[in-house]
Amino acid sequence: MKLATGAADGLPGTHQRVRRTPANPPGLSGGERAGPPPVVTQHLTSDFYGTSCPNVFKVVRREVFKALQNEMRMAGSLLRLHFHDCFVNGCDGSILLDGSDGEKFALPNLNSARGFDVVDTIKAVLESECNGTVSCADILAIAARDSVLLSGGPTWTVLVGRRDSLISNQSGANSGLPSPFDPVDQIITKFAAVGLNTTDVVTLSGGHTIGRARCTFLTNRLFNFSGSGAADPTLDSALASQLQSVCPQNGDGNVTVALDQNSTDLFDNHYYNNLINSKGLLSSDQILFTGDAAAAASTKNVVQSYGSNSSLFFSQFASSMVRMGNISPLTGTSGQVRGNCRVVNSN
Ligand code: HEM
Repeated sequence: MKLATGAADGLPGTHQRVRRTPANPPGLSGGERAGPPPVVTQHLTSDFYGTSCPNVFKVVRREVFKALQNEMRMAGSLLRLHFHDCFVNGCDGSILLDGSDGEKFALPNLNSARGFDVVDTIKAVLESECNGTVSCADILAIAARDSVLLSGGPTWTVLVGRRDSLISNQSGANSGLPSPFDPVDQIITKFAAVGLNTTDVVTLSGGHTIGRARCTFLTNRLFNFSGSGAADPTLDSALASQLQSVCPQNGDGNVTVALDQNSTDLFDNHYYNNLINSKGLLSSDQILFTGDAAAAASTKNVVQSYGSNSSLFFSQFASSMVRMGNISPLTGTSGQVRGNCRVVNSN
């Protein structure tokens, strides 16, 4: 697929619209992290690096553009990194820390989360441009936005000023990140734990309009589903047989398939029409439309409205991403700005 550019000034899509959403009012004071709701917006602003690193947005855009020229899937990988960062101890770059006891090695990320090298490259350029200034957590937030935009999706103003954590929380990643085998109400509960609502669940799941998933997350739907001896009846039968040949029983679970089969690298609303047509790939996708839990009644309506209204999905996705990016940031003097995203500073 062709990279979306939308350049206003020679750089790929560098035009920055400054817009505040109701969920992110300017000028909130206080730096404390405690107390509900967990979504806080203190100190994040669009111009945090205005004087300290004025080219930060241009640099990240250019580097993400290069990464996508090399491999379009990287857009999905970078988007997911920001999501997996934010859901564990807030958006604090904790997923980037190396170490076998860190989040990188938690079950949802092991052999799965990718894009770390791209983050390293962006960080290195920013360090030479404005040493010790831009946090790794902010790089993830900006790179996620640019990945969506360059894949043809919406854009939004990324609020910045996050700082990086001193720790990584592996057990928090294991328990807090949603699993593709979770029922709808459990996924909703995990989103609620970080201050996101049921609409955010459906909206942000639309991130599965790009990127890929490993067979290991699908095979339970393809063969002997729930002991039935057949495929999951909520999976389109033609798609099921196609997937059965790519993901055979006892085959290599690391083989990947596109999450959105009909427009793999394009950020669009096809994900929702896939669900309506029983073509959701993961169980956690399809149950948003076909789940029988009471909770699925409300998710189903949202799926339907996004399936028929792409601009509604785009604007809601932008708002939900800003809300997700505001989950418990470290600000002020909390945490640090890492010099290398993989390790805590030594001094
Ligand atoms: C609602 C609960 C969610 C579940 C259960 C879930 C689960 C998964 C799983 C199992 C994969 C495949 C991983 C692999 O094969 O190794 C995946 C991939 C992906 N997820 Fe999610 N996800 C969820 C929500 C989200 C959200 C909120 C976003 C972003 C806003 C997102 C973005 C992505 C992307 C872009 C990929 C493809 C990554 C790549 O190709 O490298 N997901 N997800």
